[in-house]
Amino acid sequence: MHGLFTVLASSLFSTVVGQLSLPNPPVIPPAASNGTIPSSGTPNPQWSTLLGNLIYFYEAQRSGRLPSDNRVGWRNDSALQDGSDVNIDLTGGYYDAGDYIKSTFPLSFTITSICWGATDFGKGYDDSNQTAYLDSMLRWGLDWLIKAHPLDNTLYVQVANGSVDNNYWGGDEDIPTPRPSFQINDTSPGTDVAAGVSAVFSACSNLYANRGFGGVYQSPAALTDTTYSEILLNHAQSLFTFAVNASGGQALYQTSVPSVTESYASSSYQDELTLAALFLAWATNSTTLYQQAENYYSSFGLSGQDGVFNWDSKTPGLAVLFAQIAQSGSSLDSNPSRWQEEAERYFDRIVNNGGPAVETKGGLLYYPGDSDEASLNPALNAAMLLTRYAPMASSSGKTASYMNYAQKQLDYALGKNPMSVPYVVGSNPNSPSNPHSAMASGGDDITNIDNSPEVEAYVLYGAVVGGPDEKDTFHDMRSDWVQTEIALDYNAPMLTLAAMHVLNDTNDPYFTALQAGAYVRPQGAPCDAAIKDGCGSNRLSKGAIIAIAVCISVVGVVLVSLAAYYFLVVKKKRS
Ligand SMILES: *[C@@H]1O[C@H](CO)[C@@H](O)[C@H](O)[C@H]1NC(C)=O
Ligand SMILES: *[C@@H]1O[C@H](CO)[C@@H](O)[C@H](O)[C@H]1NC(C)=O
Ligand SMILES: *[C@@H]1O[C@H](CO)[C@@H](O)[C@H](O)[C@H]1NC(C)=O
Ligand SMILES: *[C@@H]1O[C@H](CO)[C@@H](O)[C@H](O)[C@H]1NC(C)=O
Ligand SMILES: *[C@@H]1O[C@H](CO)[C@@H](O)[C@H](O)[C@H]1NC(C)=O
Ligand SMILES: *[C@@H]1O[C@H](CO)[C@@H](O)[C@H](O)[C@H]1NC(C)=O
Ligand SMILES: *[C@@H]1O[C@H](CO)[C@@H](O)[C@H](O)[C@H]1NC(C)=O
Ligand SMILES: *[C@@H]1O[C@H](CO)[C@@H](O)[C@H](O)[C@H]1NC(C)=O
Repeated sequence: MHGLFTVLASSLFSTVVGQLSLPNPPVIPPAASNGTIPSSGTPNPQWSTLLGNLIYFYEAQRSGRLPSDNRVGWRNDSALQDGSDVNIDLTGGYYDAGDYIKSTFPLSFTITSICWGATDFGKGYDDSNQTAYLDSMLRWGLDWLIKAHPLDNTLYVQVANGSVDNNYWGGDEDIPTPRPSFQINDTSPGTDVAAGVSAVFSACSNLYANRGFGGVYQSPAALTDTTYSEILLNHAQSLFTFAVNASGGQALYQTSVPSVTESYASSSYQDELTLAALFLAWATNSTTLYQQAENYYSSFGLSGQDGVFNWDSKTPGLAVLFAQIAQSGSSLDSNPSRWQEEAERYFDRIVNNGGPAVETKGGLLYYPGDSDEASLNPALNAAMLLTRYAPMASSSGKTASYMNYAQKQLDYALGKNPMSVPYVVGSNPNSPSNPHSAMASGGDDITNIDNSPEVEAYVLYGAVVGGPDEKDTFHDMRSDWVQTEIALDYNAPMLTLAAMHVLNDTNDPYFTALQAGAYVRPQGAPCDAAIKDGCGSNRLSKGAIIAIAVCISVVGVVLVSLAAYYFLVVKKKRS
């Protein structure tokens, strides 16, 4: 049945085969000063530039042999031996964050988020002429995930040893080797990551087949490639079977591969199993799989959960996807109301401050604990889900309140905050200038990340940084990975939000309203998991005391020298 469907689908609807050709000359991010020029209209030029920059960030994160159309001139071919320890080719893919590890679990979430977002607001990519770059960005990740899944029941979940990688700070030419490849398999399973990768293959298969949800949602017309879509779907089906039926049973992947614990341990696999079943049900129009997803949702007790949406915790997205399917007119479900109730219970607690989150003084949605590192991520993921869901809300009042709340969070991230910082590198003169990225920094002294070199060597255009602390304070310090690190998943929700604004917003992103110089680096130091110097005067670290002592003596030396200069040079000249 499936084979027949495939043959019919590819002969009837096959359109583009292969990757879209990229614009020539290429679209290059403009200087940050461009982000001060007011613009207007649809597609809005500033939203279009922002969307392009957000995609460009992923190009800077590429691993492997770079293609001739690479736009990031300061990047080099790298990690060309990946996979050689297991005799397969695992080159390519993306470096996860400011370091050089390749992590399958957060990568799969990132690309799921982007494909799902493009299925809904994809016309924004078309309108901003970014669809070819989206295609190239997605394939760089998906083609690597295909390599990482060489057999039905084998999936590579990490390349490089986290403890070695964490001790390296330098460029892409001297990345430490060996870089071991870690796998899950039939006897050593990882239900979360197998299901998570199944979900990304289904979600992107939907995008490449133009299987959207109708109504206000529009996929990018130019992206359709049914051949590629079918390849992705085959991997999705195989991985779903692996996740459900591995002979080693169902397990968290760190029980099979303890090495992932220090980077991306998973807290549960029930959310990924449900998401994988649901995306696959939509991709294959399968009532059986849809019912399985519903059964998972109730038997795993996923209803009423109140936490963040992120790479580890996908539950809040499930009711939204169920609702999208149920309102699409599909025969899988004709009753959106119970999913609307489910989604709105979650969203109402967010917009009415009734859940576990609080708002900072400056208005950032903040989940104590989850938001203590990379504070913008939970807020932007909430804004992204709210924006997607708003058109389906049960009343126009809710639609408006969800859109307003999402706008408020996005405005905050784009500069409407007490620091006046748009937290996207290279978008405006007030953007962060010290993202925690070994490759962009140009430095190789891990003991002096902040000042070696003084000025970060390369501008990592389009990178969303971690974000401010719970007092809205942002220090823009390169060593403070809590606030300034960049990562694949930090950018993801902003792409979907920017795509929606390209297609539906004549106003500029907030940052064009900022004056150059509006950001003033705050006094003192951060107090977080990376840096303790700002944690209070009676808790000064040894390093801080030494730094102060050095400071005082430097000031002393400077004063003495100035005095000497004055008496010896200035006075002499005047006389
Ligand atoms: C900003 O830069 C982009 C890309 O170079 C350009 O197309 C756009 O017109 C510029 N926007 C403004 C408002 O100047
Ligand atoms: C997209 O490309 C077309 C054709 O080259 C051009 O007219 C249009 O201005 C571009 N739009 C944007 C937002 O760059
Ligand atoms: C990772 O590196 C650490 C530190 O060198 C080493 O002790 C450990 O055995 C390595 N783990 C693997 C799986 O290679
Ligand atoms: C790429 O190589 C060039 C030339 O050796 C070097 O200057 C540059 O810093 C390298 N890029 C990175 C990210 O290390
Ligand atoms: C299966 O995966 C485990 C955990 O990574 C590994 O130790 C084992 O060698 C793998 N089995 C095979 C046959 O490769
Ligand atoms: C798991 O195995 C059972 C028993 O063989 C089979 O009925 C079921 O379809 C399998 N599930 C998946 C998702 O392949
Ligand atoms: C999905 O399957 C149903 C039968 O179960 C069929 O009526 C419907 O046309 C199918 N939808 C699509 C989009 O193929
Ligand atoms: C775009 O805006 C219009 C009017 O405000 C609204 O009806 C529509 O639902 C919005 N579209 C999306 C995709 O949010």
